[in-house]
Amino acid sequence: MSSEKKQLVARAALDFVEPGAVLGVGTGSTVNCLIDLLPSIRDRIEVVVSSSKATTQRLEQQGFEVTTLNEAGDLDLYIDGADESNKRLQLIKGGGGALTREKVLAGAARRFVCIVDDSKLVGMLGQFPLPIEVLPMAQGFVVRRLLKLRAQPVWREGFVTDNGNHVLDVHDLTISNPVEMEQRLNQIPGVVTVGLFANRPADVLLIGDDDGVREMRV
Ligand code: 5RP
Repeated sequence: MSSEKKQLVARAALDFVEPGAVLGVGTGSTVNCLIDLLPSIRDRIEVVVSSSKATTQRLEQQGFEVTTLNEAGDLDLYIDGADESNKRLQLIKGGGGALTREKVLAGAARRFVCIVDDSKLVGMLGQFPLPIEVLPMAQGFVVRRLLKLRAQPVWREGFVTDNGNHVLDVHDLTISNPVEMEQRLNQIPGVVTVGLFANRPADVLLIGDDDGVREMRV
Protein backbone atom coordinates (compact mmCIF):
# COMPACT_ATOMS: atom_id res chain seq x y z
CA MET A 1 0.00 0.00 0.00
CA SER A 2 1.36 3.41 -0.81
CA SER A 3 2.25 5.48 2.20
CA GLU A 4 -0.19 8.15 1.02
CA LYS A 5 -3.14 5.71 1.02
CA LYS A 6 -2.17 4.46 4.47
CA GLN A 7 -2.12 8.02 5.77
CA LEU A 8 -5.53 8.72 4.22
CA VAL A 9 -7.32 5.72 5.73
CA ALA A 10 -5.60 6.19 9.08
CA ARG A 11 -6.80 9.78 9.19
CA ALA A 12 -10.34 8.77 8.19
CA ALA A 13 -10.43 6.23 11.03
CA LEU A 14 -9.95 9.01 13.61
CA ASP A 15 -13.54 10.14 12.97
CA PHE A 16 -14.81 6.87 14.49
CA VAL A 17 -13.19 7.59 17.87
CA GLU A 18 -15.83 9.13 20.11
CA PRO A 19 -15.21 11.04 23.35
CA GLY A 20 -14.41 8.72 26.28
CA ALA A 21 -13.41 5.89 23.92
CA VAL A 22 -12.03 2.59 25.12
CA LEU A 23 -9.93 1.96 22.04
CA GLY A 24 -8.24 -1.19 20.76
CA VAL A 25 -5.31 -0.72 18.39
CA GLY A 26 -4.20 -3.33 15.83
CA THR A 27 -0.78 -4.03 14.35
CA GLY A 28 1.00 -3.26 11.09
CA SER A 29 2.27 -0.45 8.91
CA THR A 30 -1.20 1.04 8.28
CA VAL A 31 -1.98 1.03 11.99
CA ASN A 32 1.41 2.64 12.64
CA CYS A 33 0.16 5.64 10.64
CA LEU A 34 -2.92 5.70 12.87
CA ILE A 35 -0.83 5.53 16.06
CA ASP A 36 1.23 8.47 14.90
CA LEU A 37 -1.99 10.49 14.48
CA LEU A 38 -3.56 9.49 17.81
CA PRO A 39 -1.92 12.30 19.83
CA SER A 40 -4.09 14.75 17.83
CA ILE A 41 -7.24 13.23 19.41
CA ARG A 42 -5.75 12.33 22.81
CA ASP A 43 -8.57 14.14 24.67
CA ARG A 44 -11.14 11.74 23.18
CA ILE A 45 -9.35 8.58 24.30
CA GLU A 46 -10.06 7.25 27.79
CA VAL A 47 -8.26 3.89 27.57
CA VAL A 48 -6.00 2.23 24.98
CA VAL A 49 -5.51 -1.54 24.58
CA SER A 50 -2.83 -2.97 22.28
CA SER A 51 -2.76 -6.06 20.03
CA SER A 52 1.03 -6.63 20.07
CA LYS A 53 4.32 -5.75 21.70
CA ALA A 54 5.25 -3.67 18.64
CA THR A 55 2.04 -1.62 18.90
CA THR A 56 2.48 -1.17 22.65
CA GLN A 57 5.97 0.18 22.08
CA ARG A 58 4.78 2.65 19.43
CA LEU A 59 1.83 3.79 21.54
CA GLU A 60 4.15 4.39 24.49
CA GLN A 61 6.50 6.37 22.24
CA GLN A 62 3.51 8.59 21.46
CA GLY A 63 2.95 9.10 25.18
CA PHE A 64 0.00 6.73 25.73
CA GLU A 65 -0.26 4.47 28.74
CA VAL A 66 -1.40 1.05 27.49
CA THR A 67 -4.00 -0.88 29.52
CA THR A 68 -4.59 -4.64 29.41
CA LEU A 69 -7.86 -5.99 28.05
CA ASN A 70 -8.52 -7.57 31.44
CA GLU A 71 -8.40 -4.14 33.07
CA ALA A 72 -10.27 -2.35 30.28
CA GLY A 73 -13.22 -4.72 29.79
CA ASP A 74 -14.96 -4.58 26.41
CA LEU A 75 -13.77 -2.11 23.79
CA ASP A 76 -15.91 0.60 22.21
CA LEU A 77 -13.85 0.47 19.05
CA TYR A 78 -11.11 -1.64 17.50
CA ILE A 79 -9.11 -0.28 14.55
CA ASP A 80 -6.82 -2.57 12.58
CA GLY A 81 -5.49 -3.28 9.08
CA ALA A 82 -5.84 -6.49 7.06
CA ASP A 83 -4.09 -8.49 4.37
CA GLU A 84 -7.31 -9.17 2.43
CA SER A 85 -11.00 -8.32 2.68
CA ASN A 86 -13.98 -9.53 0.69
CA LYS A 87 -17.20 -7.58 0.18
CA ARG A 88 -18.73 -9.11 3.30
CA LEU A 89 -15.83 -7.58 5.27
CA GLN A 90 -14.50 -11.04 6.13
CA LEU A 91 -10.75 -10.75 6.43
CA ILE A 92 -7.42 -12.50 6.24
CA LYS A 93 -5.11 -11.11 8.90
CA GLY A 94 -1.81 -12.07 10.49
CA GLY A 95 0.69 -10.94 7.90
CA GLY A 96 2.45 -9.26 10.82
CA GLY A 97 1.98 -12.32 13.04
CA ALA A 98 -0.22 -10.63 15.65
CA LEU A 99 -3.39 -12.52 14.69
CA THR A 100 -4.19 -14.07 18.07
CA ARG A 101 -4.31 -10.87 20.08
CA GLU A 102 -5.91 -9.08 17.13
CA LYS A 103 -8.71 -11.65 17.07
CA VAL A 104 -9.27 -11.29 20.80
CA LEU A 105 -9.54 -7.50 20.52
CA ALA A 106 -11.84 -7.71 17.48
CA GLY A 107 -14.05 -10.11 19.45
CA ALA A 108 -14.13 -7.78 22.45
CA ALA A 109 -15.04 -4.72 20.39
CA ARG A 110 -18.53 -3.31 19.89
CA ARG A 111 -17.28 -1.89 16.58
CA PHE A 112 -14.40 -3.02 14.35
CA VAL A 113 -13.13 -0.54 11.76
CA CYS A 114 -10.66 -2.02 9.28
CA ILE A 115 -8.30 0.21 7.27
CA VAL A 116 -6.84 -1.00 3.95
CA ASP A 117 -5.96 0.12 0.44
CA ASP A 118 -7.89 -0.98 -2.64
CA SER A 119 -5.38 -3.75 -3.53
CA LYS A 120 -6.57 -5.68 -0.48
CA LEU A 121 -10.21 -5.92 -1.59
CA VAL A 122 -10.66 -9.32 -3.26
CA GLY A 123 -13.49 -11.42 -4.69
CA MET A 124 -12.48 -14.60 -2.86
CA LEU A 125 -10.17 -14.75 0.16
CA GLY A 126 -7.02 -16.85 -0.08
CA GLN A 127 -4.68 -15.29 -2.61
CA PHE A 128 -2.76 -14.06 0.42
CA PRO A 129 -1.44 -17.16 2.26
CA LEU A 130 -3.56 -17.74 5.35
CA PRO A 131 -1.54 -17.28 8.59
CA ILE A 132 -2.18 -19.84 11.32
CA GLU A 133 -0.57 -19.62 14.77
CA VAL A 134 0.45 -23.05 16.00
CA LEU A 135 1.56 -24.46 19.36
CA PRO A 136 5.21 -25.58 18.86
CA MET A 137 4.60 -29.15 20.17
CA ALA A 138 1.84 -29.66 17.58
CA GLN A 139 3.79 -28.44 14.53
CA GLY A 140 4.10 -31.71 12.65
CA PHE A 141 0.57 -32.82 13.43
CA VAL A 142 -1.01 -29.56 12.24
CA VAL A 143 1.01 -29.66 9.00
CA ARG A 144 -0.17 -33.23 8.27
CA ARG A 145 -3.80 -32.23 8.82
CA LEU A 146 -3.45 -29.24 6.48
CA LEU A 147 -1.82 -31.38 3.78
CA LYS A 148 -4.94 -33.58 3.88
CA LEU A 149 -6.91 -30.47 2.85
CA ARG A 150 -4.58 -30.18 -0.20
CA ALA A 151 -3.19 -26.93 1.20
CA GLN A 152 0.50 -25.98 1.16
CA PRO A 153 1.60 -24.91 4.66
CA VAL A 154 4.94 -23.08 4.92
CA TRP A 155 6.58 -22.23 8.24
CA ARG A 156 7.40 -18.55 8.72
CA GLU A 157 11.17 -18.85 9.15
CA GLY A 158 12.70 -17.57 12.39
CA PHE A 159 9.43 -16.05 13.58
CA VAL A 160 8.02 -16.47 17.10
CA THR A 161 4.76 -14.75 18.05
CA ASP A 162 4.29 -12.55 21.11
CA ASN A 163 2.69 -15.66 22.66
CA GLY A 164 5.74 -17.90 22.05
CA ASN A 165 4.17 -19.84 19.17
CA HIS A 166 5.02 -20.36 15.50
CA VAL A 167 3.19 -19.28 12.32
CA LEU A 168 2.28 -21.32 9.27
CA ASP A 169 1.47 -19.43 6.06
CA VAL A 170 -0.98 -21.66 4.24
CA HIS A 171 -1.02 -21.44 0.44
CA ASP A 172 -3.55 -22.88 -2.03
CA LEU A 173 -6.57 -23.00 0.25
CA THR A 174 -9.90 -22.64 -1.54
CA ILE A 175 -11.87 -20.39 0.81
CA SER A 176 -15.30 -20.39 -0.86
CA ASN A 177 -17.03 -20.45 2.53
CA PRO A 178 -14.91 -18.41 4.98
CA VAL A 179 -17.11 -19.07 8.04
CA GLU A 180 -16.99 -22.83 7.52
CA MET A 181 -13.25 -22.80 6.77
CA GLU A 182 -12.51 -20.82 9.93
CA GLN A 183 -14.52 -23.28 12.02
CA ARG A 184 -12.91 -26.28 10.37
CA LEU A 185 -9.34 -25.07 10.87
CA ASN A 186 -10.10 -23.98 14.44
CA GLN A 187 -10.96 -27.60 15.21
CA ILE A 188 -7.46 -28.92 14.47
CA PRO A 189 -5.86 -29.54 17.89
CA GLY A 190 -2.72 -27.41 18.26
CA VAL A 191 -4.07 -24.55 16.16
CA VAL A 192 -4.00 -21.50 18.40
CA THR A 193 -5.57 -19.01 15.98
CA VAL A 194 -6.62 -18.97 12.34
CA GLY A 195 -6.05 -15.66 10.54
CA LEU A 196 -9.52 -15.81 8.99
CA PHE A 197 -11.81 -13.21 10.52
CA ALA A 198 -15.12 -14.49 9.11
CA ASN A 199 -17.15 -15.31 12.22
CA ARG A 200 -16.30 -11.82 13.45
CA PRO A 201 -15.81 -9.71 10.31
CA ALA A 202 -15.16 -5.97 10.33
CA ASP A 203 -18.18 -3.69 10.77
CA VAL A 204 -16.74 -0.90 8.65
CA LEU A 205 -14.07 -1.11 5.94
CA LEU A 206 -12.24 2.08 5.00
CA ILE A 207 -10.55 1.68 1.63
CA GLY A 208 -7.87 4.06 0.40
CA ASP A 209 -7.81 4.42 -3.37
CA ASP A 210 -6.59 6.96 -5.92
CA ASP A 211 -9.68 9.13 -5.35
CA GLY A 212 -9.58 9.20 -1.54
CA VAL A 213 -11.33 7.00 1.06
CA ARG A 214 -14.36 4.79 0.40
CA GLU A 215 -16.44 3.25 3.15
CA MET A 216 -18.10 -0.17 3.09
CA ARG A 217 -20.41 -1.64 5.72
CA VAL A 218 -22.13 -5.01 6.00
C1 5RP B 1 -0.83 -8.03 11.50
C2 5RP B 1 -1.97 -7.84 10.57
C3 5RP B 1 -1.99 -6.59 9.76
O1 5RP B 1 -3.16 -5.92 10.00
C4 5RP B 1 -1.90 -6.93 8.31
O2 5RP B 1 -0.76 -7.75 8.08
C5 5RP B 1 -1.81 -5.67 7.43
O3 5RP B 1 -0.62 -5.01 7.67
P1 5RP B 1 -0.19 -3.71 6.89
O4 5RP B 1 -1.05 -2.60 7.36
O5 5RP B 1 1.27 -3.52 7.25
O6 5RP B 1 -0.37 -3.98 5.41
O7 5RP B 1 -2.87 -8.62 10.46
O8 5RP B 1 -0.89 -9.28 12.13
